[in-house]
Amino acid sequence: MKHLIDPMDLSLEELNDILELAEKMYNNPGKYAEAAKGKKIATLFYEPSTRTRLSFESAMLDLGGNVIGFSSATDSSVSKGESVEDTVRTVGCFADVIAMRHPNEGAPKLASMFSPVPIINAGDGGHNHPTQTLTDLVTIRKEKGRLDNMVIGLCGDLKFGRTVHSLIKAMSRYEGIKFVLISPQELRVPDYIISEVIEPAGLEYEEVTSLEENIGKLDMLYMTRVQRERFFNEADYVRLKDTYILDSKKMKLAKQDMIVLHPLPRVNEISPSVDNDPRACYFRQVKYGKFARMALISRLIGLDVD
Ligand code: CP
Repeated sequence: MKHLIDPMDLSLEELNDILELAEKMYNNPGKYAEAAKGKKIATLFYEPSTRTRLSFESAMLDLGGNVIGFSSATDSSVSKGESVEDTVRTVGCFADVIAMRHPNEGAPKLASMFSPVPIINAGDGGHNHPTQTLTDLVTIRKEKGRLDNMVIGLCGDLKFGRTVHSLIKAMSRYEGIKFVLISPQELRVPDYIISEVIEPAGLEYEEVTSLEENIGKLDMLYMTRVQRERFFNEADYVRLKDTYILDSKKMKLAKQDMIVLHPLPRVNEISPSVDNDPRACYFRQVKYGKFARMALISRLIGLDVD
């Protein structure tokens, strides 16, 4: 039984297989419409979500399966004090696979030690969000036609942004990647991402504070929201929240084929004036996410599809 807790839980071979299957599903969804007939996913969300929960649920429904779960801890016996361990032991009696989002880093890992069915980490605190990374990789492949030889800018809250940490891990496995890490000093990427991920992979990187001065060198710009819910005090959030706002003026400084991704939700960090720019991929990215999750679910529950 395989769980997906960290992006590195997938070998490069498994990862590429999922990306290829996602693309086949995107191109021919009807072929897979009954693949998971009789199967169920449970979505256990202890923290708010729009995209991740609904895309997991849409993915299973579009595979012909069914969905159970809760969208907040207050809707379940968690509110009576039930532990993560007992919750997954229980839900594992009903479902074939569980997608769990939790505010505590490591909660899905703990769940995987007790669950009778595969656990998918749908975001744990400021730690990891591996299925957002699958979404991002499907998007980059579709929009750029490759996953290697790229200058990747990551901008905003690189400290608390779990999507950033997972994406850097995944992209560090491809050749010719250079990271431009754009953030205020207080929201720099955690040291372990540099020392345990980027440097061992032998990849180039730079840490900078200006978006304007660096946007022109990027093949992809990954914008992120400042993660208000992970700050210890409101004053720091208010001071930092609008450090970077991508607008049409800044897009004029970018390459004509640079793509803009954002895991969403956005607050102010991308002006709506950018939305109609063909380089803005973030709503197409949402759509690709469903196919990434369809492919992942298929492999984790062992559907016979190709
Ligand atoms: N990208 C993402 O995780 O969005 P949600 O918080 O809406 O699930």
